[in-house]
Amino acid sequence: MSLLEITNLSHTYGEKILYQNEALELFKGEHMGIVGQNGAGKSTLIKILSGEIIPDGGHVVWQSNIKLGHLDQHGVITGDCSITEYLKRAFCELYTLEEKMNGLYEQYASTGDEKALLQAAKYQITLEAREFYHIESHIEKVMNGLGLSVIGGNRLISELSGGQRAKVILAMLLLEEPEVLLLDEPTNFLDKEHVLWLSEYLSAFPNAFIVVSHDYDFLEKISGCICDIDAGKLRKYTGKYSDFLKQKQHLSEEHIHRYLAQQQQIKKTEEFIRKNIAGNNSRNARGRRKQLERMARIAPPSASVSKPDFSFLETTGSSQEMLNVKNLEIGYNYPLLSLQNLTINRGQKIVITGFNGIGKSTLLKTLTGQIKKMSGDFIFADTVRLGYYEQDIIWESPCQSPLEIITAYYPSMSTKEVRRQLSRCGIKSEHVMQAVSTLSGGEQAKVKFCKLLLSPCNFLILDEPTNHLDALAKEALQDALKSFGGTVLLVSHEEAFYRSWASQVISIEKI
Ligand SMILES: Nc1ncnc2c1ncn2[C@@H]1O[C@H](COP(=O)(O)OP(=O)(O)OP(=O)(O)O)[C@@H](O)[C@H]1O
Ligand SMILES: [Mg+2]
Repeated sequence: MSLLEITNLSHTYGEKILYQNEALELFKGEHMGIVGQNGAGKSTLIKILSGEIIPDGGHVVWQSNIKLGHLDQHGVITGDCSITEYLKRAFCELYTLEEKMNGLYEQYASTGDEKALLQAAKYQITLEAREFYHIESHIEKVMNGLGLSVIGGNRLISELSGGQRAKVILAMLLLEEPEVLLLDEPTNFLDKEHVLWLSEYLSAFPNAFIVVSHDYDFLEKISGCICDIDAGKLRKYTGKYSDFLKQKQHLSEEHIHRYLAQQQQIKKTEEFIRKNIAGNNSRNARGRRKQLERMARIAPPSASVSKPDFSFLETTGSSQEMLNVKNLEIGYNYPLLSLQNLTINRGQKIVITGFNGIGKSTLLKTLTGQIKKMSGDFIFADTVRLGYYEQDIIWESPCQSPLEIITAYYPSMSTKEVRRQLSRCGIKSEHVMQAVSTLSGGEQAKVKFCKLLLSPCNFLILDEPTNHLDALAKEALQDALKSFGGTVLLVSHEEAFYRSWASQVISIEKI
């Protein structure tokens, strides 16, 4: 029985048609991955499913009274309670039941009312059956799995970073166990270990889910079917992600083959008509012309999307020792991590791993001067020209367009050149003048890259740069980093991204 039935779905933004008369079904317990290029309409689909966006046309019918849980690609929650208090709300129904039960026990104690005792006993059975007495260990398990325990259950939500808040929302959803989970790029906020934990958790998840992701390994582990959004079409494939890739390749080859065969037939027929329309064979030629007019034309294969070009501008001149760290202690009000000795030399491409959950972004923020060190020292060589890619996507003026943003940074650049630079980073011309906050996650990341690529540097510090990027863009970034002659310091949860080019992976332990 289907939990969800979508028919004739259509949605557009201005001139851009995201989908037209599309259909999709989700069945009970089905584990669906949603894939597609940046800007294909994945997040929009999730928002349509959660009711946040009303589509221009079509029907989205959920089974009645279904409970949905939704994690947005940019995860936002507010609140002045602690993490644990927030997570306990997943079980508020059971806490209310406990209160009622305690009230009834008290009533019995003071009045001797047997009915109250019986009712209290019924509530007790329900609470036990729903594992009320294991809530705390359940919360702890999920907090551990997602790396929230290291932050501490008592920390206030208002003190958390964007990524940490997203983890809290995700933890809440997993604890609530809704009938359908809708997750938009949940791995963006997680470390390698947490991605692994989440993939195992989701594989064993008894209910249905729809998860958007660009992470090949993650999708391969969690999905039992794939919904591919490509050129305005939604198409469901059964099987794992690798099965989908094979099937899609096969279908695409078959399509090209059929299209070319039909084109050849059309050409031949047109040739025949041209030669014979005025001669003895005119009747035959006219017949063929009719046939040609009635022929159902196979659409040309969609033009392949070109790969962005993320090559960095390198400055000349650098020193042998680019960064020297000595007894550096970093943190906020309290120390998070200390680094005794670290030297990074010219041309080294270093990946930092280790200390789950907190610390890596803080280290990069300390090195780039965003936050103050607690004690110790770090010194960059005088010749160092830093290029920093921050994990969070935050715009000072979200209403500014990509064109305005880049022009503000590089005022001497002509509009034509800014457009060219945005285009080589994969920003389509129709998005150049649009408010940056209305661009998809991947499109926004590409604008950030454009800004970075235009300032010459010899030392790149990159914090989770693959978040939001589709497969082609990730490949482009990988190529650019491989051929970059300068120094690189990278934090990334995707080993497949850096395995082939990193010169050293340094694992740093938490203090
Ligand atoms: N409010 C809006 N106004 C105008 N265009 C929009 C708006 N929201 C989304 N779009 C456009 O619709 C397209 C689909 O956006 P969506 O966020 O669904 O993409 P996505 O598939 O999730 O991409 P990504 O992989 O980058 O997250 C994008 O090109 C985006 O720029
Ligand atoms: Mg998206």
